[in-house]
Amino acid sequence: MTTVLVTGGAGYIGSHACKALKAAGFTPVTYDSLITGWEDAVKFGPFEKGDLLDRARLDEVFATYQPVAVMHFAALSQVGESMKIPGLYWKNNVMGSLNLIEAAVDAGVKSFVFSSTCATYGEHDNVVLDEMTEQLPINAYGASKRAVEDILANFGEANGLDHVIFRYFNVAGGDPEGEVGEHHRPETHLIPIMLEAIDGKRPALTIFGTDYDTPDGTCIRDYVHVCDLVEAHVLGLKWLLDGKGSRVFNLGTGDGFSVREVIDRSRAVTNKDVPYEEGPRRAGDCTKLVSGSTRAESELGWTPARSTMQQMIEDAYRWHRTGHYNK
Ligand code: UFG
Repeated sequence: MTTVLVTGGAGYIGSHACKALKAAGFTPVTYDSLITGWEDAVKFGPFEKGDLLDRARLDEVFATYQPVAVMHFAALSQVGESMKIPGLYWKNNVMGSLNLIEAAVDAGVKSFVFSSTCATYGEHDNVVLDEMTEQLPINAYGASKRAVEDILANFGEANGLDHVIFRYFNVAGGDPEGEVGEHHRPETHLIPIMLEAIDGKRPALTIFGTDYDTPDGTCIRDYVHVCDLVEAHVLGLKWLLDGKGSRVFNLGTGDGFSVREVIDRSRAVTNKDVPYEEGPRRAGDCTKLVSGSTRAESELGWTPARSTMQQMIEDAYRWHRTGHYNK
């Protein structure tokens, strides 16, 4: 079977990707430091503990498994934290990725799938965000991901490292079979925090800013189901293995939801009110991030079938109540 090295395979998106890769006939080898990941989320292939900054360990893992491709999820991904401790993001996300890319090239890998973000676009008033939109990140997280995109472009030219870059919008939901799900420590994402507030695990959700230039004053985001997102990765991997070359794809649905709209939708799923309070803006948050591209649909044949807000909250809520969430 064809082996793929999955960095961050013990994390939220990476663990769902491993499940999808296995279902598609690949062997996913997880490489994860467990700083933010969970060993018991590694269920679909071998596990190798290691840090991206440890080149010797990376070389050892490449030599052992000889993967045909790398899927690179491992990263710090909190916008707020990146504004407070930017050095962490430049070290882990940029230096760590450079280390990984060099190790992959030296091991003869020719195909690389990278998880980037719509946070690389930054603030664009009334502009439809597609893959050609200028990348002007306003937070260190987005800047670190854009830097890795640049590194990949250089290694693509110089070393023939073909790469598919996915710029995610807001990932939500969980495996409908409940084998894996979203679990961050500390939790910072809107939907899981909202579910914790609903179930009394925290006193209230704080809405970060109600004075944005949007219809209800709260930030607007484009939410995409994690299972749809990882299906796109399998399609991106096949695209590379078929020799179709480097390409960038947005992964979003094109539908924007404000924070208040997400809160409203949750009532229909949970039959419970969300205790919330209104607070100040969170540093680094863009007003509106919504995808304006259908490139992934038209070129990869991607269908984001599960990405309705109702389904994402339903799947997140089921996982949230299984107990895995409460470790
Ligand atoms: N929000 C709140 N209260 C909370 C948490 C979030 O009001 O307690 C708001 C945020 O201000 C934002 C929206 O809910 O407007 C979504 O916030 P998340 O933290 O869930 O997601 P982000 O948009 O900040 O970031 C996520 C990923 C990033 C990715 C980004 C792209 O964490 O990796 O989506 O938008 F880059």
